[in-house]
Amino acid sequence: MAEEHVCPIWVGYLLASPLRKMAQNPDKILSKHVKPGMKVIDIGCAMGFFSLPLARIVGTDGSVICIDLQEKMIKMLKKKVDKAKLADIIETRMCTSDSLQINDLSGQIDFALAFAVVHEVQNKAKFLTEIYRALQQDGKLLIAEPKGHVSKENFGRLIETAQNIGFEIIEHPVIKRSHAVLLQKNNRNSMKL
Ligand SMILES: C[S@@+](CC[C@H](N)C(=O)[O-])C[C@H]1O[C@@H](n2cnc3c(N)ncnc32)[C@H](O)[C@@H]1O
Repeated sequence: MAEEHVCPIWVGYLLASPLRKMAQNPDKILSKHVKPGMKVIDIGCAMGFFSLPLARIVGTDGSVICIDLQEKMIKMLKKKVDKAKLADIIETRMCTSDSLQINDLSGQIDFALAFAVVHEVQNKAKFLTEIYRALQQDGKLLIAEPKGHVSKENFGRLIETAQNIGFEIIEHPVIKRSHAVLLQKNNRNSMKL
């Protein structure tokens, strides 16, 4: 799988633009999978295009942990979180390119979002394994990758990697300009870890 550079900060601003909702509406994409009270992780959250809508869906009984490796992305997200008065629901975390550093979340997460991030990750198997471990039994992971950066073949290989870890394919949601797959943790396969 071809590796990409990490998303520049200026692209982070573009991705956070409200105009993007015309093609990729967070509520439409997420509301089928995310419910009030859920504990969610937004991986590669950048400036929070999906993080704030996620927080509004899970509400005060739930929580959203937003993870990114770039400090500037997290700083901008924090400003938005404070302005939107969502700090009680959203936690922000920095990670490294080697690890999401989410061992403390083992078995706790109901839903994980990895939108337009996996193509930037070097060790995809490790990245997916960390998410797998953080998910609770039957927890779900939605992966969406930009068609402009990721070929159908590479997306297929990514799904195979996820299946080898133990994920099961639930569906292929239709998301504009994206390859997408909804995966579920399959505990029967967890011996593969
Ligand atoms: C193209 S942006 C997508 C942002 C957001 N998910 C969205 O769709 O608006 C990718 C983000 O993933 C982050 N990222 C790249 N590699 C990562 C990794 N290994 N772990 C966590 N975040 C990563 C980048 O810093 C960047 O903010």
